[in-house]
Amino acid sequence: MTKEEQYREIIPQIQSLISGETDLIANMANIAAVLHSAFRFWWTGFYLVKEKSQITNNRLPITNELVLGPFQGPIACSRIPYGKGVCGTAWAQGQTLIVPNVHEFPGHIACSAASKSEIVVPIRKNGEIIAVLDIDSADYNTFDAIDQKYLEQIQL
Ligand code: SME
Repeated sequence: MTKEEQYREIIPQIQSLISGETDLIANMANIAAVLHSAFRFWWTGFYLVKEKSQITNNRLPITNELVLGPFQGPIACSRIPYGKGVCGTAWAQGQTLIVPNVHEFPGHIACSAASKSEIVVPIRKNGEIIAVLDIDSADYNTFDAIDQKYLEQIQL
């Protein structure tokens, strides 16, 4: 089966799996499990946009950051600031990022030395980015426009 054929099978499965459940975390957990086991990626998971409060001069400015959500694979960084790493950059740019070689990506956050290529897809709700889907591969050049096309169809 080609990668595209696999996606054509899996995306409707994901859509029916999550259609009966409203809980975001439960749906993210199942999506990570389906994608990870189907494609045997190195790491498959979500980072959620969450509020972070900082106490500065008795004021409480609120900034957001990415916080680790449901995933499959080895342990990962818990928090990623806006604009940092591949995930934080995809969030800041509001678009999917495909990185064929993570060692060539300026500011890449190496949660695992085994990770060699990566795709990060922003997840939107009512037009706002609420999370990113991050998939890492232990091989170079794993992700292309086919992954982007199908992963962008995942609506939470
Ligand atoms: N490589 C990512 C960090 C997350 S993990 O690899 C799971 C990045 O640069 O955003």
